[in-house]
Amino acid sequence: MEIRPVASQDRAQLAKLLDRIETFSRPEVEVALELIDAALKGTNPDYLVMVAADGEQVLGYICYGPTPMTDGCFDLYWVASDPQARGRGVGGRLVRAMEADLRARKGRIVRVETSAMEAYGPTRGFYEAMQYLEESRFRDFYKVGEDLVTLSKKL
Ligand SMILES: CC(C)(COP(=O)(O)OP(=O)(O)OC[C@H]1O[C@@H](n2cnc3c(N)ncnc32)[C@H](O)[C@@H]1OP(=O)(O)O)[C@@H](O)C(=O)NCCC(=O)NCCS
Repeated sequence: MEIRPVASQDRAQLAKLLDRIETFSRPEVEVALELIDAALKGTNPDYLVMVAADGEQVLGYICYGPTPMTDGCFDLYWVASDPQARGRGVGGRLVRAMEADLRARKGRIVRVETSAMEAYGPTRGFYEAMQYLEESRFRDFYKVGEDLVTLSKKL
C-alpha cells in the first residue's frame, strides 16, 4: 500500500468509496467530493488530499488543510477507508502521513470537529488510537442533545 497525493484518475473510485461509507449522509458525501475536486484543481491551497492505494485500487483517503487565520493549526476534514479494507492499517497510515506532511509545513495542532455521536460512536477507538483527545464541547450544537466535540492533537 502506498500513500500519495490524490490524482485525477482517483476521482471515480473516491466517489464510489464515499457512497459506501455507512456513516456519511448524502450532503456530507457531496461536500467531501467538492473538497476532493478543489484539491484536484490545485488552485485552492486550503484543501489537501492524500489517498491510500494498492496498485490501481484506492483503499481510502484523507482530506485536511490549514485553518484560516491561525499560526500552524490544521483541520482534518475527512478520513475514510473502504469498508472492505477496514482494520488493515489504511486509516492509521493516512493519519500518520498527514501528520508527517503537517510537521514539514511547521504545523502545531490538528483539529477535528465532529458530532459527539461520531466522536463517541464507532470511530472513538480510531481517534483514541491516533491520540486525538477531546479539547472542547459545544452543547446542543447540531441539534438538541447532539454536541459539537473538538478533538485535537499537538504535533
Ligand atoms: C475510522 C476509519 C477511517 C478507520 O479506518 P481503518 O482503516 O479501519 O483504521 P486502521 O486499521 O488503520 O486502524 C488504526 C487504529 O485505529 C483502531 N481502530 C480503528 N477502528 C476502530 C474501531 N472501530 N474501534 C476501535 N479501534 C479502532 C485500530 O485498532 C488501530 O489501532 P492501532 O494502531 O493501535 O492498532 C474507518 O473505520 C472509516 O472509514 N470509518 C467511516 C468514516 C469515518 O467515520 N471517518 C472518521 C470521521 S471523518
